[in-house]
Amino acid sequence: MSAKNIAVLGTGGGGRAHAARLAELGYEVHVGTRDVEATLARTEPDMMGNAPYKEWLADHPGIQLHAFADAAAAADDIVINGIDGHNAVAALTSIADQLTGKTLIDYAVPYLYGAAMDHPWPTPWGTMPKMDPCDTDSLAEQIQRALPDVKVVKSFVTQEQETVVNPKAIGGGDHTMFVASDHTDAKQTATDLLTAYGWTDVLDLGGLVAARGMEMYAHMHSAIGLALGLGHHFGVKVVR
Ligand SMILES: NC(=O)c1ccc[n+]([C@@H]2O[C@H](COP(=O)([O-])OP(=O)(O)OC[C@H]3O[C@@H](n4cnc5c(N)ncnc54)[C@H](OP(=O)(O)O)[C@@H]3O)[C@@H](O)[C@H]2O)c1
Repeated sequence: MSAKNIAVLGTGGGGRAHAARLAELGYEVHVGTRDVEATLARTEPDMMGNAPYKEWLADHPGIQLHAFADAAAAADDIVINGIDGHNAVAALTSIADQLTGKTLIDYAVPYLYGAAMDHPWPTPWGTMPKMDPCDTDSLAEQIQRALPDVKVVKSFVTQEQETVVNPKAIGGGDHTMFVASDHTDAKQTATDLLTAYGWTDVLDLGGLVAARGMEMYAHMHSAIGLALGLGHHFGVKVVR
């Protein structure tokens, strides 16, 4: 049987972690970016300190870089959304045709970056970005409303990039991952992928409305990370 084609939209740290792990699992991985040439021409680390994409790609032979639309078109079913939260709805809407009928697993946080949006927060750098939407709506629901023919699943977002794809790296894997979607079949698809990553405790939170809490958890995730000290990996476990 030929390998399954999967798309990862995004060249940031999270997108790289998923792409590398999926290739390891035997998928044909199609990564999406705004402009292939521009992405490959970068010589400086990105805002999070990730090495230029060309260097990363050289260490991951077989992974293919395309424009967002071509990456989405190449996927048999699963497309992972790792596009910066604030720009995700517009970027995904522009490739609606290539996403139609597919399962879109979204892990983005709707942070608004930039000095005007930052607000004081007890981080070592003194601020945190604003989150919008939040509480009464979520990014995942916005994406689903913008793309009614796509099956949006919210997942991954409560975990950092190193461990979302390798849960056993901490606590022997004894922690909880969440899924939410209005599409039962897509939620099962995402759960199967999580199982392949090594997750054994996947909690179904129900409809996509639960994405509100998953996205807002980003603040709690930051607080736990700061309490433990930067660089410490951790997970959350729902004890029941
Ligand atoms: N990294 C994690 O562990 C983690 C965990 C949970 C949630 N998240 C959230 O998941 C999202 C992705 O995170 P990430 O770390 O993987 O990557 P990221 O650095 O936040 O985002 C990178 C991607 O966003 C695209 N992008 C930026 N501005 C854009 C615009 N104006 N229009 C279209 N695309 C644009 C970039 O396109 P180019 O490729 O063209 O540069 C790139 O592919 C974020 O919302 C983040 O907060 C991340």
